[in-house]
Amino acid sequence: MISLIDKNNLPQVAMEFMNDVHNEDVEIINELYNLILLYEQESNQKNKEAIDKKYEDWFAHTTEHFRGEEEKMKELQFPPYMMHKGEHDNALYIMDTIFRTWKKSNDITVLKNYMQNDLLPWLIHHIQTMDTVTAHFFHSGMSPCSIH
Ligand SMILES: [Fe+2]
Ligand SMILES: [Fe+2]
Repeated sequence: MISLIDKNNLPQVAMEFMNDVHNEDVEIINELYNLILLYEQESNQKNKEAIDKKYEDWFAHTTEHFRGEEEKMKELQFPPYMMHKGEHDNALYIMDTIFRTWKKSNDITVLKNYMQNDLLPWLIHHIQTMDTVTAHFFHSGMSPCSIH
């Protein structure tokens, strides 16, 4: 199996529950990426359905991933909650739009380019910024906005 993201290179944050979800996310992303590569070799209905099923699983997992972080932010009254949630909402919107474009066009490059050029850098950047700051807040009870 080819990895789009190497688990060992995934940035770690200060909360284990978040790292666990990120690891699951990377597993699904790598499985999806391999199905995309397979479809490039053999563009048949069976391989298309395998992609669609995996993408739907990934979307459901991502919805839960984001919801889990958002619930804890609300519970602990994380001040930049809206900023973090805004990135989640935008990412879900793009995931959904790409999926619809692929289903309409059957153009595998839409999915492949998105995974390689948008999703991958987005995910790493999001974990290194929003998730890192948020996990630090969860862990220490200290808001990055309240440090004097
Ligand atoms: Fe996250
Ligand atoms: Fe997040």
